Amino acid sequence: MHILRYIDDNLKDKTILITGGAGFIGSNLAFYFQNNHPDAKVVVLDSFRSGEKLSNGNLKSFGHFKNLIGFRGEIISGDINDKDLLLDLEVNYRFDYIFHEAAISDTTAQEQDLMIRTNVNAYKDLLDLAIKHNANMIYASSAATYGNAASPQKVGVEAPQNVYGFSKLCMDNLSREYIKKSNIGIVGLRYFNVYGPREYFKNSTASMVLQFGLQLLSGKNPRLFESSDKILRDFIYIEDVIAANIKAMNPKESGIYNVGTGKARSFQDIVDILQRELETTLSCEYIENPFIGSYQFHTEADIASTKEALGYEPKFEMEDAIKAYVNEIRRVYEQEVK
Ligand SMILES: NC(=O)c1ccc[n+]([C@@H]2O[C@H](COP(=O)([O-])OP(=O)(O)OC[C@H]3O[C@@H](n4cnc5c(N)ncnc54)[C@H](O)[C@@H]3O)[C@@H](O)[C@H]2O)c1
Repeated sequence: MHILRYIDDNLKDKTILITGGAGFIGSNLAFYFQNNHPDAKVVVLDSFRSGEKLSNGNLKSFGHFKNLIGFRGEIISGDINDKDLLLDLEVNYRFDYIFHEAAISDTTAQEQDLMIRTNVNAYKDLLDLAIKHNANMIYASSAATYGNAASPQKVGVEAPQNVYGFSKLCMDNLSREYIKKSNIGIVGLRYFNVYGPREYFKNSTASMVLQFGLQLLSGKNPRLFESSDKILRDFIYIEDVIAANIKAMNPKESGIYNVGTGKARSFQDIVDILQRELETTLSCEYIENPFIGSYQFHTEADIASTKEALGYEPKFEMEDAIKAYVNEIRRVYEQEVK
């Protein structure tokens, strides 16, 4: 994947920790630094997948070695809940930046204990580590903090509808406290719906862009929820998400910022664009939405403060992003699905 180089800073002799680096967004970050800052030392920490499942049938962690094939930095298999591991990181490394992507990323997970422990408590330990190392912390928050709050969603008006969204809001609240009491840069990025290369191993939690693409390539009629032309989300391409992370290394001000395009598009749009790109004309099947009550019907990021504080400017319209992504969807279909 070609990604523009976003910072000119020399990262020579800098050490970057990426938690969740075997996952979708973390692995894209790892390759961004490898390709653009080969002098930086990049350490990936991820629990990888073990086969262990949550009660909803999904894997507990989605990290996959194939996301890191070609990555030449250091890789640590470990759990962010492991205090001994964190102590080892504190004593034996000196991080300049921490990109914290590790999480129970499954928005439908029901295990509240595991969710809060992993997403909130372990994050606090990592913040303490960042302070000890005088490292900047850039972490993944989520649009799930907003639930069905009115569009455009703005930081400060949250209404999470599931424990995942609640856990991300707890991270943001914790961050505000740390911003007050510490001198390190702390930036929370509330990603909206991210899609792009290296998401395949999220299985059924991968974006609908990939899932519809694979359905179309296998000749299956795309299955959408009823009224999918009225279910709107702010879908954001991975390259814009990586750009936001890089900008967050030098924020004007620490804080919590939305990372979306500022435009809502429908699930029907995704299928229509994919059909054009893949040259298919399959008819859609409409099924009942089983998630009503804990489902977001309209998300659209207010990105004014992100532009102001980070200098962030999304570059990809959905049409351009899917055009850029479609060959990778074909490759995934050929090599992983067929
Ligand atoms: N992809 C999106 O649309 C989206 C939207 C909003 C927020 N986010 C957040 O962005 C971050 C990255 O998401 P992603 O889409 O790359 O998901 P992902 O599941 O691919 O990545 C998360 C990674 O964390 C690892 N992990 C899980 N538990 C761990 C633990 N206890 N210790 C160490 N590693 C652990 C997993 O193995 C996985 O590789 C997550 O924090 C997620 O909540 C993602």
